[in-house]
Amino acid sequence: MIPIKIKTDSALAHKTDCLVFFCRKEERPGGVLKDLDKKLNGALASAYKDQRFEGNAGQILWLETLGHLDARAVALVGLGEAKDAKLEAVRQGAGSLAAQAKKNKSKTVSFLMPTTGELKGFDASLKGAAIAGAASEGALLGLYSFDEYKSKDKKDKKDKDASVQSLVLLTTSAAQAETRKAASRASLVAQAVYTTRDLGAHPGNTATPTYLAKEAQRLARAHKMTCKILKQKDMEKLGMGSLLGVSRGSNEPPAFIILEHWGAGKSKAPTLVVGKGVTFDTGGISLKPGASMDEMKMDMMGGAATIGLMQAVASLNLKCNVVGIVPAVENMPDGLAIKPGDILKSMSGKTIEVLNTDAEGRLILADALTYATTKYKPRAVVDMATLTGAVLMALGHHAAAVVDTDAALAQELIDSGERTGERAWRMPLWDEYEKGVKSDIADLKNIASPGVGAGTILGGAFLKQFVEGDVPWAHLDIAGVAWGDGKPYNPSKGPSGFGVRLLVDYLEHLKD
Ligand code: BES
Ligand code: MN
Ligand code: ZN
Repeated sequence: MIPIKIKTDSALAHKTDCLVFFCRKEERPGGVLKDLDKKLNGALASAYKDQRFEGNAGQILWLETLGHLDARAVALVGLGEAKDAKLEAVRQGAGSLAAQAKKNKSKTVSFLMPTTGELKGFDASLKGAAIAGAASEGALLGLYSFDEYKSKDKKDKKDKDASVQSLVLLTTSAAQAETRKAASRASLVAQAVYTTRDLGAHPGNTATPTYLAKEAQRLARAHKMTCKILKQKDMEKLGMGSLLGVSRGSNEPPAFIILEHWGAGKSKAPTLVVGKGVTFDTGGISLKPGASMDEMKMDMMGGAATIGLMQAVASLNLKCNVVGIVPAVENMPDGLAIKPGDILKSMSGKTIEVLNTDAEGRLILADALTYATTKYKPRAVVDMATLTGAVLMALGHHAAAVVDTDAALAQELIDSGERTGERAWRMPLWDEYEKGVKSDIADLKNIASPGVGAGTILGGAFLKQFVEGDVPWAHLDIAGVAWGDGKPYNPSKGPSGFGVRLLVDYLEHLKD
């Protein structure tokens, strides 16, 4: 991980490859920027005058200083109008800036942290330390790259290109301690997001269920979590016929991963997080079309985010109890694979008519939710799954859909989404929807009849049947946000790591 240094230094005498200033739209160069502008012979004022830079969100003005300053280049990063200038604007600005700094071969990038006096009119969440955290997070996330499969020459060249080696946050000496704390939190969170992205970026022939289990065990050792892996035999004993039905068509053995963090002592009820871990989804006998099928290596992003979340929770040593559960399987067509019409018996005892083997996520999550809600007495259960293509129709790449049994839990997730930029949006779960998953011949069916619509809600309605007891439960359908969401700090064609930052924030805001 790229180190973040906290320094107190005069901005105009600071030696760095790129000196970064955040600017609101209404702001015109004042204070330190005015002095800077003098040194640059009015280059800033002229950029404003020609409207090459106006402080709009996403805008960057990059100026080489050509010896006029100790910093080799100066960059202004726009945050938009004060009313819109939320932490997400800082995160996205820092992400774009970091990518540009990398292109321009800056080894060190220094961000001048605005002092409280300069923040008038900003959103209340924009406190000094929060800005430091968001800037660090955005920059680190934006500098992520994955090149494990490039042969050596290409990798060497890439290493040479990947030039940002350290980030600096310039702040007052009074603010050093809180800035350092925010930066170190951001760094641990970014590391956990990297873990999640790496798991998602690996192809299906590397990131098998066994691989996910091994990674979970490795991370558990490194971050002092407990880790238990259930094997096929254990799952058979537990009667997980729904999960095992999906796994039947694959030569890869399934794995059921359980990570635990007891940060509040064992007597307190844990929050349970369950993540879909389909390491490749061919659709099974209800085979998917060939075009873009390769993308289905990302069908384990819910599971990957659960593993990354557990890493974050443990490394931040959050004072709460969290259990992460990842049912991991591969969905393949094969002589042993389940067929449309087959009926499976789930761990809950409920029978399921499988009308489409491509609606497999809900089949593995069914048993995982039964396990989670019967083996533990949780305070809340949140699951994350790339469950339906329909969520892309509803919300595009901009939000996860929430289907839940508890409005308060849903609202807490939505609020965390607003704070972290990992947005969530609530769907209704009226009784009528639940009728859609009742089978004529078995207890449930895994898809609704043609023409019923509401694919994302129906997926949630199905999952709800496996949540035992009256524990608050929320399902996050992350199929639209887990990959290539277009945000400046996320890979343009790769895994975002959605869910890690959202749920870390949710857990940090738990009341007692
Ligand atoms: N893994 C897919 C959903 C998906 C689609 C994830 C696009 C990411 C991007 C899931 O298993 C699936 O195939 N869902 C079906 C459900 C249908 C058969 C009810 C779908 O969305 O078409
Ligand atoms: Mn599928
Ligand atoms: Zn799937």
